[in-house]
Amino acid sequence: MERIVGGSARLALMNLTDNMHVSGEDLGEIGAQVSNATQAITARAFIGQHQPLPLPFDPAKLRGISEKLIRSHWENNYGGAVKALNAVEQRLGAMLREKDLPPYIYGDVKREELVRSGSVVLHELYFANLGGQPKPGGKVLDLIKQWFGSYAQWEDEFKKTANALSGGSGWVIFANNTHTGEFHNYWAGDHMHNIPTGLPLLVLDMYEHAYHMDYGAAASKYVDAFMQNVNWEEVNRRAEVLSKA
Ligand SMILES: [Fe+2]
Repeated sequence: MERIVGGSARLALMNLTDNMHVSGEDLGEIGAQVSNATQAITARAFIGQHQPLPLPFDPAKLRGISEKLIRSHWENNYGGAVKALNAVEQRLGAMLREKDLPPYIYGDVKREELVRSGSVVLHELYFANLGGQPKPGGKVLDLIKQWFGSYAQWEDEFKKTANALSGGSGWVIFANNTHTGEFHNYWAGDHMHNIPTGLPLLVLDMYEHAYHMDYGAAASKYVDAFMQNVNWEEVNRRAEVLSKA
């Protein structure tokens, strides 16, 4: 099945159960190894073998966002989320074996599974929609005009939503709400709070780690720089996948 995400993370703001990085063949192999070694974890959901996707662009060539920042963001924040997700999945599998474990303790780690899964998915979408030219066109431009009247009006709302998150954390997600069929710029306060039936077309990371190294507290300058680096080709690819679904 074709994926709306350019990388491994099949769009899943509400559907985070897909294994994101491991092929079926690999899973069989890994599962057998784990099973032989520990006689414990055999199910796919608890393998915890996700691998980070490489940056899909040359980080030295972005306009107004430094290579140092992008590499740090990729390695420490995104990379850290992938490692944490693996640890959480494996921990959940191990905890299932503890018969006397209170459900609320298990629930704490389930929450972490959602946090880390959301972070991995959104970071992969974010990096994949960076590294392009600031010239929107094609299907997504038609959608923007259809739902916002003009590109300028859409951009104004997208940037306002982003600036509303400055100084804190969150994401802005231009998405199709598949429940209503509408297109909106959705505010997301963290990796978990976002539209439950949204299929993202464009994702902007507004956590301070995404800009503080370059811009300090001047988040709006980062938002302006982001708009100069949007990979509209990738955004259009997602829109095309959506239209075929
Ligand atoms: Fe981030």
